[in-house]
Amino acid sequence: MIPFSPPYIDEDVINEVLDSLRSGWITTGPKVKALEKEVAGITGIENVLCVNSATSAMMLMLHWYGIGKGDEVIIPAYTYVATALAAIHLGAKAVMIDVNDDFCIDTSKIKKAITPRTKAIVPVDIGGCPCDYDEIYKIVNDDEVRKLFIPANDVQRKLGRIFIMADSAHSIGALYKGKQSGSLCDSTIFSFHAVKNVTTAEGGAICLNLPDKFDNAELYNWLRLLSLNGQTKDAFTKSQGGNWKYDIIYSGFKINLSDICAAIGLAQIRKYDNELLIKRKRIFEMYNAGFSRFEWIQIPPSMTSEKESSYHVYLLRIKGVTEDQRDEIIEEINKREVAVNVHFVPLPLLSIFKSDYDIKDFSTSYDNYSREISLPVYPQLKDSEIKEIIESVTGSYETVIKNN
Ligand SMILES: Cc1ncc(COP(=O)(O)O)c(C=O)c1O
Repeated sequence: MIPFSPPYIDEDVINEVLDSLRSGWITTGPKVKALEKEVAGITGIENVLCVNSATSAMMLMLHWYGIGKGDEVIIPAYTYVATALAAIHLGAKAVMIDVNDDFCIDTSKIKKAITPRTKAIVPVDIGGCPCDYDEIYKIVNDDEVRKLFIPANDVQRKLGRIFIMADSAHSIGALYKGKQSGSLCDSTIFSFHAVKNVTTAEGGAICLNLPDKFDNAELYNWLRLLSLNGQTKDAFTKSQGGNWKYDIIYSGFKINLSDICAAIGLAQIRKYDNELLIKRKRIFEMYNAGFSRFEWIQIPPSMTSEKESSYHVYLLRIKGVTEDQRDEIIEEINKREVAVNVHFVPLPLLSIFKSDYDIKDFSTSYDNYSREISLPVYPQLKDSEIKEIIESVTGSYETVIKNN
């Protein structure tokens, strides 16, 4: 079986983890700091905080912005549930809107969804392709929209508009108008979950890019404290002899990343730009070349004049099939020993949202989903396996559709 997304574990990853084990320090410490520095280097953003998941990273940022009961957070209906839960766990309402054919949030629908309760928009870079951030900023800076915004605290007053936080769980290394993902809006969240382009088994990063009137370095220190119970000194600092005294100055969370996990991502990210991302791009190109002669295949967006993907997953769509036929094709592909996936079940179809949302109001999300099959993309994939995957898709389509 060709697996869908095994983690990239080479000798450098193993040695970096061993280094953490042998150092006598395994929780938040020098490896996390080094990983933060590497993410900063890739994104061009100075202040990057690593935590234990993208979900908790999003919750922390929304909490910092003072989002809670009675507030609304606009998200796309086509995403992983974490985008919605980050807002819901804080007591806010996740307001869903449809996406475009390119999987990105439909910016033409954002303005209509904004109310005086709207505090944040969380666009999602599905599959690794950045959303239309310039367009989103144009909307939140629009005079009419700014007038609707009712700040509830000093931070909101200071920003004076809806907060934009990118769910860039998939898009580390992607580009939008020549700028790196991570630098495209107020705050950007990366995921380092086991299947992501860079992984720490579980983990996430917050890139801070608030306008000049905010001190992003000061905010980094504050969020770091919030991620460690609100404690004035982390365990590493306290361990450096004679430094035991601490205080708790805020009822914070416990969502710090450990060094032993950071070590995995650290070894990967050092070769991300120069090796791992290039290999991912090559796999996309091989898929594109292999599938382009089949008129029933819709090639996923990965490169336009304005955007370049991080080549996270290959979101293939089959033209003119129903959801059931797509499912049958997947079964056939599995029989051919290839593991594939679907990104994602639109949120309105999930049990927890069914009573509040109707999928009929999200026709493009449903259309994307019902025809989508995610193909494996990871640096270890061999050319022969890519060929096998292409043949398994085309052969399965022929079995299910053409021969029926
Ligand atoms: C689009 C999206 N957002 C958020 C997350 C949550 O990431 P994490 O598992 O690091 O919390 C995921 C994880 O799969 C995701 O795909």
